[in-house]
Formats: sequence, C-alpha cells, structure tokens
Amino acid sequence: MNILITGGASGLGKAITCKLASLAENNIVFTYNKSDSAARDIENLFPNTKGIHCDFSSAVDLENLLRLVLEFNVDTLVNNAYATDLVTKHFHKILPSVFVDNFALNIIPTIRITQEAIVNFRKKKFGKIINILSSAIVDAPPLGWSEYVAQKAYLASLSKSWAVENSSFNITSNSISPSFMMTDFTSDFDERTVEEIVNKNPLKKLLTVDEVSECVLFFLKSSQQINGINMLLNAATHVA
Ligand SMILES: NC(=O)c1ccc[n+]([C@@H]2O[C@H](COP(=O)([O-])OP(=O)(O)OC[C@H]3O[C@@H](n4cnc5c(N)ncnc54)[C@H](OP(=O)(O)O)[C@@H]3O)[C@@H](O)[C@H]2O)c1
Repeated sequence: MNILITGGASGLGKAITCKLASLAENNIVFTYNKSDSAARDIENLFPNTKGIHCDFSSAVDLENLLRLVLEFNVDTLVNNAYATDLVTKHFHKILPSVFVDNFALNIIPTIRITQEAIVNFRKKKFGKIINILSSAIVDAPPLGWSEYVAQKAYLASLSKSWAVENSSFNITSNSISPSFMMTDFTSDFDERTVEEIVNKNPLKKLLTVDEVSECVLFFLKSSQQINGINMLLNAATHVA
C-alpha cells in the first residue's frame, strides 16, 4: 500500500507513520514542516519511508506535494497535519481575518491534496482517505476553541461528501475523532487542566497517540464496505 501522511514526523502523525511503516508491505511518504531531524530519524529507522518538506503556507511546497501524489501513485491519504496554532479566544474576540487566514492555511491545502488523491484513486478504482478530526466536534466544545472546532467540523462534512461521491469508484473516506492527547499541540496546557481532563474521562486516563494510530491501521486494513464513518475516541464522555 502506498500511503501519504501529512504531518507525519511529530506527535500523532509520527505514531501513525511508525505504526504503518512497521508493516513491510507499506511504502510511506510523510510530510513535515519543522520536524526535519525527526523526519531523518524515521527514514533511518524505516527504509520504507520518505519524508518530504511541506509547509502548507508555501505555494511551492504544496505544488511539489501535489505532483508527488500522482508520481507516488498513492493508495491511502491520511489528513493529519494541523498547520496553525490553536486559537484559544472566545468567539466574539477572534478577528474575522483569523478565520480567513487559518482556513487558507489548514483547509485549502487539505482540500487540494485530497482532490489530487481522488483523481489518482478514481483512475485505479481504489483509494482510502482517513481524516484526523477531534472529539470536540461531538462533545461540548472547550471554551475558546470555536475556530479550531469549526475547521474540524468543516472537514467532517467534506469527508461525508468524499465518501458518497466516490463510493462507486471503490474509494472510502473515514474519520477518526480523538479526544485530548499529550503532543506538542497540547504542550501549553497547564497541569491542572490536564488533570481535570483525566478526571472527566470515564477511564481516568488520557488517550494515547498509539491508540489512535491503531485505529488508522484498522481503517487501512478494513473492508471498503466501511465508508463515511467518524470513529469517536472519547471513552464515551458523550454519546454521539
Ligand atoms: N493532541 C490532541 O489532543 C488532539 C486531539 C484531537 C485531534 N488532534 C489532531 O491530531 C492531529 C495531529 O496533532 P498533534 O496532536 O500530533 O499535534 P502536533 O504534534 O502539533 O502536530 C501537528 C502536525 O502538523 C504539522 N504542521 C504544523 N505546521 C504546519 C505547516 N505550516 N504546514 C504543514 N504541516 C504543518 C506538524 O509538522 P512539524 O512537526 O514537522 O512542524 C505536525 O506534524 C491534528 O490534526 C490535530 O488537530 C489532536
């Protein structure tokens, strides 16, 4: 399986890259932005991986990646990267330009990469899209996260259309919505907040990147009959 993972050298993306690369039948291209030394470490550890620098804010990087989607003859696309910082402000205090800029930085590149992948998938009548969303689109959204959660909800909606429009071409689009995990993305959270999150979890523990990467592996191996679903990983703090 030829797999493209965005943001595959750090945090959850790294766990996904390493999990899928541990199966010798997979060839993996993963993108990275700042994590260049981690990218080289992964390549050294797994000869079936290649890291490509792709900063979503660079038109040149993005064009290079789009070309590669065809050259690499991708079978599975994992939309994992999140290219902007988490905005933590109440909705009425966020400048409208922040919504526009962050949409351009996160959603538009994801749309363009997915469009290119679908063109390739349709030619060979096979493909899998796996989107990393967030449990915050189902659970009560944390205060101040409106901009982030709205972006994930937008992708959740796109994922359903991708699933419906392409199912007759043997192409699936499924999503995974993880709850809070310890990564660079959440490293600014203070200890007390993290403790509160742990206490609210019925299992009294945080979700791990390894558990989420197991779910990516599940979708990779699953029947194409499984299409258009959103796998919620929140230990049922809220039932969708
Ligand atoms: N952590 C959580 O609690 C949590 C919960 C639910 C969902 N998620 C989702 O899980 C995914 C991975 O997040 P994470 O927790 O692993 O955080 P992370 O370590 O901060 O991952 C963000 C990823 O996006 C990449 N990235 C950052 N800026 C970029 C840019 N300008 N262009 C292209 N790629 C860029 C990073 O690459 P470099 O490291 O190379 O810069 C990194 O691989 C995200 O979609 C996030 O929304 C996270």
